[in-house]
Formats: sequence, structure tokens, C-alpha cells
Amino acid sequence: DTTRDKLKEAPKLTLPDAQKVTSVQHWTDKLFSFRVTRPASLRFRSGEFVMIGLMGDPDPKTGKQKPLLRAYSIASPSWDEELEFYSIKVQDGPLTSKLQHIQPGDEIILRPKPVGTLVHDALLPGKRIWFFSTGTGFAPFASLLREPQTYEDYDEVIITHTCREVGELEYGRKLIEDIKQDELMQELIGEENLNKIRYYPTTTREESPKMGRITDLMRSGEVFADLGVEPLNPETDRAMVCGNLAFNLDIKELLEGYGLEEGANSDPKHYVVEKAFLD
Ligand code: A2P
Repeated sequence: DTTRDKLKEAPKLTLPDAQKVTSVQHWTDKLFSFRVTRPASLRFRSGEFVMIGLMGDPDPKTGKQKPLLRAYSIASPSWDEELEFYSIKVQDGPLTSKLQHIQPGDEIILRPKPVGTLVHDALLPGKRIWFFSTGTGFAPFASLLREPQTYEDYDEVIITHTCREVGELEYGRKLIEDIKQDELMQELIGEENLNKIRYYPTTTREESPKMGRITDLMRSGEVFADLGVEPLNPETDRAMVCGNLAFNLDIKELLEGYGLEEGANSDPKHYVVEKAFLD
């Protein structure tokens, strides 16, 4: 009958909360970034995350497909027309084993409900902000480094990024280089504000100009000597932390040791922490 024919001809159903991939860039065999269209209704604060993913494989018994979603920090700033994400590729990861193959024009699922603790609202006013990251934990800072409020709120913006290998630093290194050269950024944030950025990359398993875990470099005082700043102080310093679980716990202990206290949206204090996505 005609209804049946019409159904057959109907275009393939798009995913629920579908967004279209606009570009994909592979950084290493384990890291890639991509941009997608932004739902018109999506408002978020730079530093927040959303759930994104793909449809999972059909259930062998019922044939039904369920969305496979993970929390991803939005790496683009709140004013950007598109949304950017920075992801690991895990060969047997339920999501990233598939997600790493997306191409421009493909669709992903994006639940438009941003949340998270790495937001300026969760911190008391201060002079200097530290962004401490490992691996893909750089993502929320890719957003916050492009957010004008970061520079309105602080005189100095220090971003540390610790990775195993040099190649894993490239997304962050290039992003910071681009921010400083981009005309739109200079207009939006101001050249003198962009000069507030201090970038401190370190590697732990491959030779690079600065080696070691940032935690060890803090304990030894090396990072403060290198940057020519005093160790963190609750009077002046604020911090946001995003990395693997062990790193987050170690940094937390260090920050508490300097006298900083953990804040939240409802109770702003000196530092905030979030776990980086691991498939
Ligand atoms: P390391 O090579 O010494 O383990 P991963 O890829 O395992 O997520 O790690 C990313 C980076 O974070 C690596 O350079 C790793 O150093 C570093 N790292 C892992 N755990 C900690 C920790 N507890 N404190 C500081 N850095 C850490």
C-alpha cells in the first residue's frame, strides 16, 4: 500500500540530537580533534562539557540500537559558531574506536545539556590563573584560553600541559600559537591580553626542552623558577585542573598544601577539578 511505499522512500532517519561534522584533524595515532555544527539553542559557559557520541551496534537479539555517549569538554569558546572537541583514540574503546573514523558530513549525537565545574563562576577573584592539564585534559582550556573573560579576570594566565610524548603537545601548542596570531582573537581579546598567556609544556617519556611531571616540577620549585613567579598562594592564585585521575588527586593535594580550597558553582573558592575523558 501507499503508506508503506512512502515509508520505504523516506530519507534515512537522522540520529536524535544529531549534529553534522564540519572538520576533522588527526594529531597523532592516538589523538584527534573535530568540529561540529552547534545547535541554535545551545548556550554554555567556556570550560563546560556535554555528552556526545554515536549510535551503538544493534543489539544481536532485538536489533535495537542505543546511543553510545561519553562526556566531552567543549574545546571551543562559548562565542564560537561551531563546537570543537579533542579526543583520544582507543582501539578497543567502545566509542572512540568508531568516533575516530568520522568524516566531514557525518553526524554525531550531541545532548545539548552543558555542565561542569571548570567555569569562572566557581572561582573567587584573583590575579593569576593556572590551568593544569595532562593529555586530552587540555580540551576545556582550549575553550577558556579563547574566552575573553579569562583575560578580564586575571593579569596572568599560566597553562601547563604534561604529556608522555612531544607529538601529544601539538594540538595545544598550535592552538596557543594560533590564538596569539589570529586577527579575530586580537580584536576580541586584545593583543596585550593575549600576552598574558604563559605556556608551560612538559613531557615525561620523550626528550623535550622541559621534562618531568608538572607535579614533580612544582614540588622541586622548578616551574616557579622557570616562570619567575612565586609558588601558588590563596591570596593571588586560582587554578583549574583537568587530567587523568591520579594526576587530579596529586595536584589537588599540592594545591591544598599551598592553602588553596576547592570551589564549586554554588560556592566559589580557589581551585576546581575535572576528570579528562578516557574511553
Ligand atoms: P608519566 O609518563 O610519568 O606517567 P596518561 O597518558 O597516562 O594519561 O598520562 C598523561 C601524562 O600525565 C603523562 O605525561 C604522565 O606521566 C602524566 N601523569 C600521569 N599520572 C600523573 C600523576 N599522578 N601526576 C602527575 N602527572 C601524571
